[in-house]
Amino acid sequence: RHSSDSESEPEEEPSSSEEEKEEPKQETGKSSASDLNSAEKPEEGVKKVVADQQPAGPSVPVGQAASNKPPRKPAVFIPVDRSPEIQEARLKLPILAEEQIIMEAISENPIVIICGETGSGKTTQVPQFLYEAGYASSNGAIGITEPRRVAAVSMSQRVAKEMNLSDREVSYQIRYEGNVTDETQIKFMTDGVLLKEIQKDFLLSKYKVVIIDEAHERSMYTDILIGLLSRIVPLREKKGLPLKLIVMSATLRVEDFTDNSRLFSVTPPVVQVDARQFPVTVHFNKKTPLDDYSGECFRKVCKIHRMLPPGGILVFLTGQAEVHSLCRRLRKAFPFQKNNAAGGDDNKEESVEEIRKFKKSRKRKKVMALPKIDLDNYSVVPVDEGDEDRDAETDDDIAGSDIDLDLGDGDSEEDEKSDSSLPLYVLPLYSLLAPEKQAKVFRAPPPGTRLCVVATNVAETSLTIPGIKYVVDCGKVKKRFYDRITGVSSFRVTWISQASANQRAGRAGRTEPGHCYRLYSSAVFMDFEKFSAPEITKRPVEDLILQMKALNIEKVINFPFPTPPPTEALAAAEELLIALGALKEPPMMGRLTQQLAAKLSCPISPLGRIMATFPVAPRYAKMLALSRQHDCLPYTITIVSAMTVRELFEEFDRPAVSEEETAKLKGKKARLLQMQRIWAGQGPMQMLGDLMVMLGAVGACEYAGCTRKFCEENGLRYKAMLEIRRLRGQLTTAVNSVCTDAGLYVDPKMKPPTETQATYLRQIVLAGLGDHVARRVQAEELLDDKWKNAYKTALLDDPVFIHPSSVLFKQLPEFVVYQEIVETTKLYMKGVSAVEPEWIPALLPPYCHFGKPLENPPPSYCPETGRIRCHRPSVFYRVSWQLPAVEVD
Ligand code: CDP
Ligand code: MG
Repeated sequence: RHSSDSESEPEEEPSSSEEEKEEPKQETGKSSASDLNSAEKPEEGVKKVVADQQPAGPSVPVGQAASNKPPRKPAVFIPVDRSPEIQEARLKLPILAEEQIIMEAISENPIVIICGETGSGKTTQVPQFLYEAGYASSNGAIGITEPRRVAAVSMSQRVAKEMNLSDREVSYQIRYEGNVTDETQIKFMTDGVLLKEIQKDFLLSKYKVVIIDEAHERSMYTDILIGLLSRIVPLREKKGLPLKLIVMSATLRVEDFTDNSRLFSVTPPVVQVDARQFPVTVHFNKKTPLDDYSGECFRKVCKIHRMLPPGGILVFLTGQAEVHSLCRRLRKAFPFQKNNAAGGDDNKEESVEEIRKFKKSRKRKKVMALPKIDLDNYSVVPVDEGDEDRDAETDDDIAGSDIDLDLGDGDSEEDEKSDSSLPLYVLPLYSLLAPEKQAKVFRAPPPGTRLCVVATNVAETSLTIPGIKYVVDCGKVKKRFYDRITGVSSFRVTWISQASANQRAGRAGRTEPGHCYRLYSSAVFMDFEKFSAPEITKRPVEDLILQMKALNIEKVINFPFPTPPPTEALAAAEELLIALGALKEPPMMGRLTQQLAAKLSCPISPLGRIMATFPVAPRYAKMLALSRQHDCLPYTITIVSAMTVRELFEEFDRPAVSEEETAKLKGKKARLLQMQRIWAGQGPMQMLGDLMVMLGAVGACEYAGCTRKFCEENGLRYKAMLEIRRLRGQLTTAVNSVCTDAGLYVDPKMKPPTETQATYLRQIVLAGLGDHVARRVQAEELLDDKWKNAYKTALLDDPVFIHPSSVLFKQLPEFVVYQEIVETTKLYMKGVSAVEPEWIPALLPPYCHFGKPLENPPPSYCPETGRIRCHRPSVFYRVSWQLPAVEVD
């Protein structure tokens, strides 16, 4: 996980892993040809129903695509049976005023850009316009990509509802799941899903229209899709099966698409949808709080709620944990009688147990004397009828976490005053929240309450929440940062861009004039970047390059990227893929400079082709590709799933509010450590290290039926375990579709691997994580104290250490491979396994220096080539090359 996504939201998994499942059904070009013809030769005489087109509200200026030609009647009209309420709501959307212009532009141009403020109706309405104009046919003829899974799911549901169609006709496909059927006519999907489809069917012959939504987000896959489609559209034209491409964007920096001759030979028309935006008064803080922006948000919301007229509040924070913490705090400050639980749990039976525990925990908290909180105003009785669900944040409450920590001195005043206020209907919103819980933000809050949504930046452009009048913007976003060369990643909270700040402010003026409270000063705002950089320029691109090579794009450097990735990132990616054996090594590779290397056109190897079919990062894909040997596949699938999901274990090192809780946390931690030792096994298994612990934990959890109870008792994160289960199923399907003879069935109740298998697994992991080898610094090499117990890696100058949570922390094996390095107080390796030195030259020759050891051994890595010099002579001279039988090809 690589991945994500430089996804600006860490909780959403990284993107490389993000992708995605192949479509259930592929159509041939032939079958879609006839469909296309019918769209191109519209039936005569069918008129569009006019009532549908008359938008209410002020008329809106017309974009560039408006011509002076008399408006043409759409020739095809497929009626849609919308309910009167839906119809009324639709007519208020600014985009309805532009329907005719948009549809004319689409019918006259192969590529159209639609630009409009968030909330103007692009995502929900354009697919409907196309449907009515006859562009849909069965099997998803209208495809819409979204960079976020949240949006793909929620938008498909919304459009189905508006059109009064079922999810069989308006469907979605995201990495883990989908509801696409043979009848699907409008298909929402993540951008990665469409990229995988292009690999199977380059011309995308089953689509008549592809809509790339949220193009302004500049997610890596969206960028590359636009590049690919700029070539696919003319190809389809040549074949006489025209494909329409619609790029939709909030009004941020469209020039990257329009003023880009590499991309489109003819500049596509831009239809501008001018949203009715009410004025938003922006209030800057005089001072910028240094770190407690979450506390500042709390105080601001309290003030707004007590002092300002009705209207929803939207708070922007940076991550899931912060969102939950502020939700809890607000719910305490403004208790909401009988219905504070807004969410859901999957398991009814268990929630009875949870309710009991929850009540018990309330009692416990009372004993802890927190006079200002009336805990009896809490209840787990759901808000909505028939909704048995319980909100995720109560999980934390039950676990007795930091529930009371927030009530510091500074806040007590607010809490007291708040007693007289209206109830606040507090809802969380972030990517990983279950879709049905996300959907709550779209419903009207219960009468007599004020809506307050605490969100991450998913609410910035992807989702528009109705009725928001006040925005509280902390000015920050949590992003994953990568060191492009070393791949070391870390999540950092950084300032947003000016464009994002303005976008956030705009969320307050959707229905009436609003206010935006920025928790930073105008001077700080002036220092923000104008726009945030496209994702593709900021993250490692090996997964992207592999996907592109699988599409036979050899000279990646010539690809029409909207913004090209930096050359050194391309070079690093090619070098890694060559080392993994996914690309064929070009002659003289070692002597070329990185820049030249990037221009080389290394074709994909057969191994690379197999790797490209797996929906995981190339390093993991290589492990899967090697694991048909010795019945290792089920184990590798599990290891890869667990590494992709990350953070399997609960975190117990957190501040506690009482001695009682401290003791409880200590007990839980001791229990987890004990279990980890058991899961780590003995002998050769133990050498598989943290990966064996992952395997053991998943195995044990599945054996127990993967219940919440088992997870809680043993320190496992229940949600992570469910996610691993889904990913294992998905990877099993992917593996089966590649190795058709494998007939692999992954038994959820996996037997532990044998000792021999554990050894093979270590080799497989080494072969996949090849560039992540580290060698312990020997006593004679100790430069100074900071190198004590340190490891040297191929790519970093600095010492790295085994993370204290690793089962190998005390053992300090001589050579290890690691899943990732994270930087906290030091550089720490996580997901560590021990490997034998003699495997390295056999499995990873590109990373070794074969030759006489030098008289004065250089540092153990070579900065120019990034290769390890294992200058222990034995590695190169005294190894008997009798290696266990791992066939690399
Ligand atoms: O794509 P764009 O940001 O231009 O707008 P949209 O997502 O199509 O949203 C249009 C309107 O539909 C907004 O006012 C949303 O609040 C509303 N909507 C909704 O009520 N429920 C949903 N599940 C999705 C959108
Ligand atoms: Mg949208």
